[in-house]
Amino acid sequence: MNKITEIIIGTNNQGKYKEICDLLPGNIKKYSPKELNIPSPEESGKSFKENSFIKASYFSKKINKICLSDDSGLEIDLLKGKPGIYSSRWAGEKNNFDLAIRKVFMEMDSVKKNWKNENKARFICNMTLYWPDGKTFSSEGHIEGKISAIKKGENGFGYDPIFIPNGYNKTFAEMEPKLKMSIDHRFNAFFKLKKFFI
Ligand code: IMP
Repeated sequence: MNKITEIIIGTNNQGKYKEICDLLPGNIKKYSPKELNIPSPEESGKSFKENSFIKASYFSKKINKICLSDDSGLEIDLLKGKPGIYSSRWAGEKNNFDLAIRKVFMEMDSVKKNWKNENKARFICNMTLYWPDGKTFSSEGHIEGKISAIKKGENGFGYDPIFIPNGYNKTFAEMEPKLKMSIDHRFNAFFKLKKFFI
């Protein structure tokens, strides 16, 4: 199998872009949609897998190179899986995660007053590799945990300040980025497609 030597990373989300770059081997040439001024497609899929495929095929076709995309989000059991594939949209057009996190707290409060004692949530990530000849490969990873009663930590992005992975007592945003990246949903999805790179 020919190993991948250059790739476009199919996201305009800079937090994700950085984390995906850090997972990839250093010697791979990486192209960024933001630097190339390529806006993101509409995520009209009904699952992480469909949205990840939409992004991978779209960005690959734009520059005729292999694309690695990621569609991810937070599923909260008490909210029947919400925000799920709408995780990014809960932050509105201005990408306001203070707002999205307040919405999480409000919705959880309205379902169960004492959710703070016990609740279940997970991050899910679906990654798709799309080659210009139409070949594709997709993989999914997740990490189980719970929603923190208070927002804590400055690292990371998105919902990191309210997610505590099982086995730890810190939110993702309180952890060293290297630790988060070695256990999270993105790492677990990448692990299954790493063979194409190394
Ligand atoms: P999308 O995959 O571009 O639709 O966006 C996924 C959204 O899920 C992001 O904007 C974040 O809100 C959230 N998300 C995905 N992965 C993470 C993570 O590792 N930490 C925090 N939030 C995340």
